[in-house]
Amino acid sequence: MKIILLGPPGAGKGTQAKKLISEFQVPQISTGDMLRQAVRDGTPLGQKAGPIMQAGQLVPDQLVIDLFEDRISKPDAGRGFILDGFPRTAIQAQKLDQLLESRKQSLDAVVSIDVPEEALVARMAGRRSCPKDGSVYHVTQSPPKKAGVCDHCSTPLIQRDDDKEDRIRERLRVYSQQTAPLKDYYRERGLLREIPGVGAPDAILTEIKRAVVDP
Ligand code: AP5
Repeated sequence: MKIILLGPPGAGKGTQAKKLISEFQVPQISTGDMLRQAVRDGTPLGQKAGPIMQAGQLVPDQLVIDLFEDRISKPDAGRGFILDGFPRTAIQAQKLDQLLESRKQSLDAVVSIDVPEEALVARMAGRRSCPKDGSVYHVTQSPPKKAGVCDHCSTPLIQRDDDKEDRIRERLRVYSQQTAPLKDYYRERGLLREIPGVGAPDAILTEIKRAVVDP
């Protein structure tokens, strides 16, 4: 199964990707997670990307494409993948088409998760993540069993630098300018499935599965 999860920051792409990987037995490929790891590791990529991410802007296409190309070439992505946060620009979408064509693969669906802006702001402001295993929580919607620590590995949870309100607004602006137009790109190719992203995460998962398997 080869699926793109499209949607604004905070729409629940990561939350749904983690559920879909066990449904379909394919890896989640999150360029955001990979970039944050590079920032934590202090690699040359991380040093370039860190300030850009903190400002709520997009990392330059070529840096992200190189990172993505490397990841998608790993054996576990041969059977399929859930793309979370890639592509985000027309250039990235065109590059993905070329890459898939060269591998004689094609996408099954592009799922756009749609959530009203004020709900997005509340979700991101309350988000807490585990820097070790990537688990995502929300202080009121899906809190960890013990406040402030990961349920799975007891690591102290963190708030992302870009989850401050002014950065959130900037990320939403960048999304509507640079990424939302991809909905038309995939609609024209007959791949777009639009799913309301409000409600219980498991109910949204059911809708996504239905839209992907039985459009
Ligand atoms: P990235 O990490 O991809 O962030 P994003 O797209 O802004 O998305 P988020 O991770 O904020 O949200 P999400 O949709 O995954 O929501 P989540 O499931 O966590 O990118 C970060 C940065 O990296 C970018 O700004 C850019 O700088 C750079 N970057 C990454 N990829 C790039 C690319 N391709 N090109 C250029 N730059 C790139 O959920 C959010 C919260 O809501 C959580 O607390 C969760 O518990 C809660 N929640 C989830 N579902 C529900 C629900 N149904 N009801 C209530 N609460 C819910």
